Amino acid sequence: MLNSLQATALLSLENLKSNLLVTQKIAPYSRRVVIVKAQLYGHLLDEVLQTIHTNLNSQEVLAVTDIDSAVSIRKKLPNRRILLLHGISNLEEAQECYFHNLETIVHHPSQIELAKKTQKKESPSPFIWVKVDSGMHRLGFTLDQITQHFSEISALNPHALFSHLSNADSPSDQQNQQQITQFSAIQKSFPDVAYTSLSNSATLLNQLIPFNKKEYIRPGIMIYGLSPNPIEKHHTIDKSLKPALSFFAPIISLKTIKKGSFVGYGGSWQCPKDGTLAVIKVGYADGYSRLLGNRSSVYLNGQPYPVVGHVSMDLITVYFNKQTNCPPPKLGDFVELWGEHICLYSLSKKAQTIPYEILTGLADRVCRKIQQE
Ligand SMILES: Cc1ncc(COP(=O)(O)O)c(C=O)c1O
Repeated sequence: MLNSLQATALLSLENLKSNLLVTQKIAPYSRRVVIVKAQLYGHLLDEVLQTIHTNLNSQEVLAVTDIDSAVSIRKKLPNRRILLLHGISNLEEAQECYFHNLETIVHHPSQIELAKKTQKKESPSPFIWVKVDSGMHRLGFTLDQITQHFSEISALNPHALFSHLSNADSPSDQQNQQQITQFSAIQKSFPDVAYTSLSNSATLLNQLIPFNKKEYIRPGIMIYGLSPNPIEKHHTIDKSLKPALSFFAPIISLKTIKKGSFVGYGGSWQCPKDGTLAVIKVGYADGYSRLLGNRSSVYLNGQPYPVVGHVSMDLITVYFNKQTNCPPPKLGDFVELWGEHICLYSLSKKAQTIPYEILTGLADRVCRKIQQE
């Protein structure tokens, strides 16, 4: 399966399906808006999109941030509901929205007039969702803006009120309750709006609100098999998620390395004992962070081995000197960079980031393959 000598992400459609089932288990009565922005959180392949699509019902939605991605999905999935998370910013986008039957968020007064132009006279017209700022202070109408533009917003006949919790991965943080209370107060001003949407993966996994049939849940990272919660706080439900993507890269050179030799740019690592050095075809241009040099490990034949020296643009170097019964590395072997044995949560900590950034930072040049299961 891993044959061409390229850094390769293996994608498990079975794991994806299993994660979709977890969302249904948590919120069996709610509809889902599955977040597929940033090229499906780096998963990229049409098979991933199709798997998500075929596991949703006809009233469920895919969401992206920009119109180009939405149009590209529309061409593949003519009947799927698609939501633009950032709304539209000019007349041309409004026309594209109209033409391709896209649903849009309105989060700012400047979008109200444009949103009207996405509406069709004939029914059913694609829905407009109104985003309110319940306390994250990023996108969304503030209370003042809602008061000022109340009649224009109401005239859009919104399908759902939408907001985003900033601290849902810390369930006991009082910011969550403040935002939920603020959101409910705003909701009372819009009694005719049938639906709400407040829950990302952390809100779902930490069960911060009741998930009734009026709520559109918005799972993102959990669909791809990762929890946004800190790993030390993972409960059974977080642990039931199955990462859909594991990452491998091939050994393209092997050499003996003498005690005292320096390796890589700047010679940041000095060999402590004669051993073998494997040069692996992956680097920061593939999305393997430069911060991982001299910090991370890769896995091969039953053992982890340290990444030594700096990560360069296209290569990393790994030191093999363990006296084990494991088979020695061979040219063309693929090492696991993360996956079953190298935990992405721990790796992202070493790279001073979060799994979201690592996944969405995987370069286009990384080969994606569907795992045969
Ligand atoms: C508006 C909105 N809703 C939901 C999500 C999904 O978040 P998560 O991946 O944490 O589930 C995102 C992702 O950033 C988002 O921007």
